Amino acid sequence: MNEPVGRTYDIPYDDRWSTRVERMYALLPHDNTPIIDFGAGECHLRHFVKDRPYHPVDQQPLAPDVLTIDIDDWARGTVDLVDAKVAFCSGVLEYLNDLEAFIHRVSTSFDLFVFSFNVFCGDHMIETEVREKRLWKNHHTTGQLTVLCEQFDLRVEVVKKSKPHSTDFEYIFLAVSRKARNQWLEAMQSQPRDQKNENF
Ligand SMILES: C[S@@+](CC[C@H](N)C(=O)[O-])C[C@H]1O[C@@H](n2cnc3c(N)ncnc32)[C@H](O)[C@@H]1O
Repeated sequence: MNEPVGRTYDIPYDDRWSTRVERMYALLPHDNTPIIDFGAGECHLRHFVKDRPYHPVDQQPLAPDVLTIDIDDWARGTVDLVDAKVAFCSGVLEYLNDLEAFIHRVSTSFDLFVFSFNVFCGDHMIETEVREKRLWKNHHTTGQLTVLCEQFDLRVEVVKKSKPHSTDFEYIFLAVSRKARNQWLEAMQSQPRDQKNENF
């Protein structure tokens, strides 16, 4: 298999993991504003951002340019990051100690926040056990997450499955600050069709 364009580090590329990241990135205007990738892991987002300033952050860095930061510390305000308008968070929020503190700090630091989350769908034991086994600490429903964002003036504009047609519970959310909403809508309307996610 050819190396996908844009990858600069020698980490095996896995299409299954990048699908979620690709669908999430399609919800954003593809401009040159800097983007922070919280819990970047293998930095799949790097493959899509092209020349845009990209700032990966993780507590266990897998590439030399990943900033070693515990997101919970950043949420508490004990560390700072470079200025950026867009926050990206794929497959991470389930593990944070204080999701509310994180979303609060995101709301004061960014205009656009795209994240994935395995939402809690019921209160039966099986689901709870599975979530505990995966060491997930947060168990919000789609509605609770939406309310949490809106409590901090981030309006949830998009909620969609990370894998269309699948039966799993992972969803992608896009939350937009009040002041950035019109700009985001205009940018998405004018984005070339091949860069637009279907029914964004
Ligand atoms: C399931 S992986 C997702 C990786 C990547 N975002 C993706 O979608 O392919 C979760 C990542 O979040 C990071 N992570 C979890 N909790 C964290 C924390 N408190 N601070 C920083 N990174 C964290 C882990 O080290 C891991 O790289």
